[in-house]
Amino acid sequence: MQEDLFKRLVSHSKEYGFIYPSSEVYDGLGGVYDYGPMGAELKNNIKEYWWKAMVQVHENIVGLDSAIFMHPKIWKASGHVDAFNDPLIDNKDSKKRYRADVLIEAEIDKLEAKIEKEVEKARKKFDNFDEAMFRSTNARVLDWANRAEAIAKRLANGLKDNNLADIKALIEELEIADPDSGSRNWTDVRQFNLMFNTQMSNIAGEDGKLYLRPETAQGIFVNFLNVQKTTRQKVPFGIAQIGKAFRNEIVARQFIFRMREFEQMEMQYFIRPGSEMEWYAYWKEKRMAWHRAVTPAAKLRFKDHDNLAFYANAAVDIQFEFPFGFKELEGIHSRTDHDLGSHQDMSGKKMQYFDPELNESYVPYVVETSVGLDRMFLSILSNSLVEETVPDAQGEDSTRTVLRIPPALSPIKCAVLPIVRNKEDLVEKARGVFDQLKFQFTCQYDEKDAIGRRYRRQDAIGTPYCVTIDFDSLENDTVTIRERDSMQQVRVPISEVAGIVRQKTEMHRLLEQIG
Ligand code: GAP
Repeated sequence: MQEDLFKRLVSHSKEYGFIYPSSEVYDGLGGVYDYGPMGAELKNNIKEYWWKAMVQVHENIVGLDSAIFMHPKIWKASGHVDAFNDPLIDNKDSKKRYRADVLIEAEIDKLEAKIEKEVEKARKKFDNFDEAMFRSTNARVLDWANRAEAIAKRLANGLKDNNLADIKALIEELEIADPDSGSRNWTDVRQFNLMFNTQMSNIAGEDGKLYLRPETAQGIFVNFLNVQKTTRQKVPFGIAQIGKAFRNEIVARQFIFRMREFEQMEMQYFIRPGSEMEWYAYWKEKRMAWHRAVTPAAKLRFKDHDNLAFYANAAVDIQFEFPFGFKELEGIHSRTDHDLGSHQDMSGKKMQYFDPELNESYVPYVVETSVGLDRMFLSILSNSLVEETVPDAQGEDSTRTVLRIPPALSPIKCAVLPIVRNKEDLVEKARGVFDQLKFQFTCQYDEKDAIGRRYRRQDAIGTPYCVTIDFDSLENDTVTIRERDSMQQVRVPISEVAGIVRQKTEMHRLLEQIG
């Protein structure tokens, strides 16, 4: 694990106003975070990028903003009341609680890390190294790979069959110790439901029990016919939604990777039964292209699910290489007619679509794309945070921390800086430039400290451009514009600044790239 990067990322997020621990004055609340001024901007930009790529670009995808509270029967029908569980295990000595599957997955990760180390060793040793050949013939690598596969299979079967005794047996056979205390004194494995609940004021007992939604998807399913009728969409069509979701995670950790309150960006694509594999393949590629437009391809990969969720007949994750390894960023699931069919059965109301081309009615199948907004945020930050040496600079200026955020997502697009602050005419000129630009972009005006320090502050929040107003600006209406990544400065007329900033920061370039 790149512990250094991860620690820097957490402290950088706090120092520059991206993320604060929730309720910090009361020592925080586990698995809950607040987004600061820079974080709120970045989050909004990621949402906009997703929303535009889904709703604006596709004529047949429309948006929705459904309520967090829903009728409790929705969660019974969807299967969440009975099956939205994680297997938990307690360590009797340390009294710490863990997810049993996560403990086992960590063992698989260790074997995979050994394989990667062996491959890297061999790559350095041999000229014309044939990686595929090495992986398929080296005895040690094969042994580790087979062990990892066997463990993953046994875990998947244990989860599928709810065979908690075998999951406990696997933990014992692998001699897994409490990561905290080293003790192997475990309780049995038990299922724990992840939904938070609360009580409606005017209905007593079970009937008034409300759940905080653990996914936004159900709000889409139960509105499927409302949306279809009011927008006259024909299958195939999609409904997209961004919103909060809540899960009572047994172990919420790794910063904003696993939270108890988080946000999802989900799209349900309603299709003809039987066409699901075609659309599943389509959305897999489309979603990967969306990620690749803002993240290097080498940091992304597909990972098929070993253990299908209770509602899916095919499922894949898009994983990102976080500082703690490749982990799920987005899920793409073929959910069949499970949800609409179950709501039809539970509510007694038809959830069918009349297909004019086939001249028949059916319950549509659904392919879902679901990405965590907070995980996307973490992936963008961890990919962007760089400490680098500045060529030809001395002393404290010889290194800088820069967030190389894709400019369209940067919280601030342009900073306006008078070269000094004690000259009234310079300040007035700079204010004039800021007052023009603020209607087009998120801008910051900053006159405090030496200019080098102000550049560093903007680098640290990922601002693509700094515009500096100096004495020549008073004479000839020109400014210098400094680009974040190259640190190159060019002199341009003030009238050209907006065009330069727009050229690099507009969202539509990303959207065109995806196609
Ligand atoms: N509607 C399908 C669904 O909710 P999921 O794989 O459970 O599927 C989708 O969740 C995405 O939501 C994940 O890929 C992840 O990015 C995000 N997510 C899930 N649980 C999360 C948590 N506790 N904290 C932050 N993000 C989470």
